[in-house]
Amino acid sequence: MDNRSARPDRVRRRLLAALAGAGLGAALPNARAASATSAWQSTFAPFDGPLGGSLGGGFDGSLECPALPVEGRLPDGLSGTLYRNGPARMRLGATRYHHWFDGDGMVQRFSLEAGRIAHRGVLLRTPKLIEEEAAGRFLYPSFGTAIAPALPVLRPDTINVANINVMTLAEGRELYALWEGGSALELDPETLGAKGFKKWSPETAGAPFCAHPRIEPDGGVWAFGYVPGSGHLLVYQLSALGALRRQAFIELPQADMVHDFAVTEHYLVFLLMPLVYESQATYAGSFASHFRWDAKAPLVVAVLDKSDLSVRRFELPADGLFHIGNAWEERGVIRLGYVSQPEILTVIQGRGLDAPYAADPGATTRWKEIEVDLAAGRVRSVATGIERVEFPRFDTRLTGRTSPLTVLLERSPAMPAAIDGHDSVLAVRAGGCQRFRYGANWIAEEHLFVPDRSSTHPEAGFLLGTAYDWQAERTALSIFDARHVDGGPVARVLLPYGLPLGLHGQFVAKT
Ligand SMILES: [Fe+2]
Repeated sequence: MDNRSARPDRVRRRLLAALAGAGLGAALPNARAASATSAWQSTFAPFDGPLGGSLGGGFDGSLECPALPVEGRLPDGLSGTLYRNGPARMRLGATRYHHWFDGDGMVQRFSLEAGRIAHRGVLLRTPKLIEEEAAGRFLYPSFGTAIAPALPVLRPDTINVANINVMTLAEGRELYALWEGGSALELDPETLGAKGFKKWSPETAGAPFCAHPRIEPDGGVWAFGYVPGSGHLLVYQLSALGALRRQAFIELPQADMVHDFAVTEHYLVFLLMPLVYESQATYAGSFASHFRWDAKAPLVVAVLDKSDLSVRRFELPADGLFHIGNAWEERGVIRLGYVSQPEILTVIQGRGLDAPYAADPGATTRWKEIEVDLAAGRVRSVATGIERVEFPRFDTRLTGRTSPLTVLLERSPAMPAAIDGHDSVLAVRAGGCQRFRYGANWIAEEHLFVPDRSSTHPEAGFLLGTAYDWQAERTALSIFDARHVDGGPVARVLLPYGLPLGLHGQFVAKT
């Protein structure tokens, strides 16, 4: 296989072969029954509210609050819509999912306009959700939970829960809910109703589309899909209007779980973990249980030239990760930051059905920086001293360009060990860090940067993020001045209900 853009029929053949090779075409094997009341589940109890308990009795699939009282003052330069996505339905019939990543997706929509904020949340009616609701039970094996008896998974979208992120195209006129094991699910941007799985091309219909596409300053999109065990990545390039510009099937090692990537002006950068997917004919368990960690293998830094998708490969000591920050080029050197997760196998497989929580969840996550010197053929990793963090964001107007700000969530030492999450938002610049800690009882979710359109200052903007008060079981949306995060929110709304803990979101400015 060459590394250039392949002909559509070759892409299709490679894709089908890879899907079959990964076991997805022939179904994930039937799973053993999950123990109904494990010790693991009881330690999970504090999360029942945000992870799905609040969606219990009486929840009909949507939440709506058309006018939320704003504490403080909504800034003049902030007008638009924040969409967030995350796992929500964790329980059906007598079964409760065991892993956060399992839940069926729910998209939240916060509309900010003329000093007012409205909320709408909708559980996404995927084919999986519709089929399982009709059956009254979970029918398919999921990411982290074994289901028995389970139906065969004939294609990836059969189990597509659309629960990780959203993507907006065409200046917000198109909205997609993203998983990473299957297709993007198109939604109505107003109602959040599901419109069906997106087909970028006949050859890639039903193929995985990642949860972290990168949108460049001109609106163009780079994305990818991975098929565990295939040894390949599918690369997509889309226009700002969503037209497919390029599709290619690239041979790459260690591409068995690839959650994020980065783009620079001339390159795509993948960090490929030594996380190995093992398909077993007699396997029993969840999808995540297929993986093992090969500590002797490196972290592969794969640099793809945008012009021809040719690959240069570099190696660092073994490491795991979910998320990468911005990346850019400086005089022939690619610079990027990522959240090191050396214990990622434990994270994706859960702590074992009967294992207790770690004494300090998140203690081993670190923000690291990588420099790839293309001319010298060298790569090195640099420690930053920033630890216990996740969910990096930056000013997406600067995607692939030098970027002065990274926004992270941080876990303070004061957070109870029984609660897995973060309680602070951290703004990292070359000159130092600013942080705001939500305080006791709060779990902070991803905070993203939104430019201040009323200012000409290049760094003027806001941080928008939700947080969940697990004692009051209510969610708040907070708005910070991005240059004064430690001063606390300049505006906030407290929802009359708690939302399931989510993953990622995007903001669409009102035009
Ligand atoms: Fe993610």
